Amino acid sequence: MISLSTNATVELAKKVVGKYDAVVVVTTKEGRPDGLEELPAAARAAAEAVVKAKAMGGKAHEVVSQVVGEPAPHRLLLVGVGVGEKVTAESLREAGAAVAKAARRYQLEKIAMIVPERLKVGDGAGGARDVAIEALTAGFLLGSFHFEEYKGSVTKRGEESKVARFARLTLVTPDVDAAAREAMKRARVVADGQNLARTVASRPGNEINPPSLAKVAQEVAKAAGLGCRVLDDRELKRLGMGGLLAVGSGSPNPPRLIALEHKGSGFRVQGSGKKREAGAGPLLIVGKSITFDTGGISIKPADKMGDMIYDKCGGMAVLGLMHALAEAEFPLRVIGLLTSAENHVSGTAYRPGDIITLYNGVTVEITNTDAEGRLVLADAIAWGIETYKPAAVVDLATLTGGCVVALGHTMAGLMSNDDGLAGEILAAAERAGEKMWRLPVGQDQRDMMKSNHADIVNSAGRWGSPLTGAAFLTFALPDKPKVPWAHLDIAGVADTDKELPLYEKGATGYGVRTLFEWLSTRAAKG
Ligand code: BES
Ligand code: MN
Ligand code: ZN
Repeated sequence: MISLSTNATVELAKKVVGKYDAVVVVTTKEGRPDGLEELPAAARAAAEAVVKAKAMGGKAHEVVSQVVGEPAPHRLLLVGVGVGEKVTAESLREAGAAVAKAARRYQLEKIAMIVPERLKVGDGAGGARDVAIEALTAGFLLGSFHFEEYKGSVTKRGEESKVARFARLTLVTPDVDAAAREAMKRARVVADGQNLARTVASRPGNEINPPSLAKVAQEVAKAAGLGCRVLDDRELKRLGMGGLLAVGSGSPNPPRLIALEHKGSGFRVQGSGKKREAGAGPLLIVGKSITFDTGGISIKPADKMGDMIYDKCGGMAVLGLMHALAEAEFPLRVIGLLTSAENHVSGTAYRPGDIITLYNGVTVEITNTDAEGRLVLADAIAWGIETYKPAAVVDLATLTGGCVVALGHTMAGLMSNDDGLAGEILAAAERAGEKMWRLPVGQDQRDMMKSNHADIVNSAGRWGSPLTGAAFLTFALPDKPKVPWAHLDIAGVADTDKELPLYEKGATGYGVRTLFEWLSTRAAKG
């Protein structure tokens, strides 16, 4: 079953009408609530009283709740967004998520929220209202996510039983036009994709393995109208995908390469009725989908090993992205690959010292079986480029602990062979509110991958491991013609062990928003 782990819905309205469990206004640190005049009389009087008593500081994440008696008992919520000059789309996403949290806390089903129309957000070039609609919608849907597929009878008897109740957010804006609807729809399809990614990512290793993941992908593809092709282990052997096969060899659950295709509606050349070719080829997105990473024979320490259920998060972001593209009827053709194996320990597992041959003929001396992500990615990238001749390739992977050491848990690492592509992705990430920092990859790192008896090693050790991990991936790229490629190391951001403004503990779905944003700018260029 396809689940987004939320019972939240969103809609637009011109006014607050009828009964609501809560009405909400946004407040900056210095000013009055934005859109007070849209509130029904009693709520408005209550809001004015709160402001007068200075009971609401308007700080980011601050929420003040007042009970109002008319027309029927309901709540007035004031949600802070911090200093007015510094309000960004991200502050509003967080405000939307704060409303979702309040909905859970107070068990609110119907919520009306006034869209702030005086705030300066975005680039200031107009459209601020639509930026607000998009951000509030996204924040509310992401904040409503709650993964509880495995809550059993103890929870169901206990106090947590109401967690996933229904919640509907109505965003109130006097002028419900096409732009407003478009902004809300975009936010919804992207947040739904992200919540789908979080849901599947959260399922444990005894449930999700490469074959069962392929089934989930097929179901998602069927429901969304995506093409789906699954290469099983026999096919992978026939094709010579030595990296993916080696990593999967220790597990009774064999590897799979899952290809999702969004055909794209194309662009119509005005007047001619003919469809224009969309660029030089499709965009290819590849996600590491290790359903569980024990480290293999180079086994990981026991502490926190359970978090390695999240080693499939790159692929889950691809799954969520593809779902969003289908829902949005996105114009460009996009291919999403989930390269999936279980990295296990057994008598059939690959070993340190083994020499394997990748799909493109590159031979690899295994120096560490825990550096498995690059092996499954290299085969998928090389096969994907040969098969689909993409205009650009982006991969997402929880590739290295070293990336977490370098950048912590707030930023992903970006490595690329193309400054133009890297710039596009950094700009998209900025708009999407997903932080990212570029790290180098070049000849220095490629030199570190040299092997005595094979072409390259799979691990060059600890020093600069995010960079050498990326350097390994460059050996999957053809020399000619050059394919622009970007690699996102999401090891530090794919999951969180503390609650964040937008995310509960667990999978975050990092990458879905940035890549949707990046593809949208590509589509706008035509
Ligand atoms: N999946 C891990 C990376 C990881 C570590 C993700 C911590 C999230 C949190 C990856 O397969 C791995 O084990 N990488 C090794 C590479 C090393 C052997 C070069 C690592 O980072 O230690
Ligand atoms: Mn590993
Ligand atoms: Zn891994």
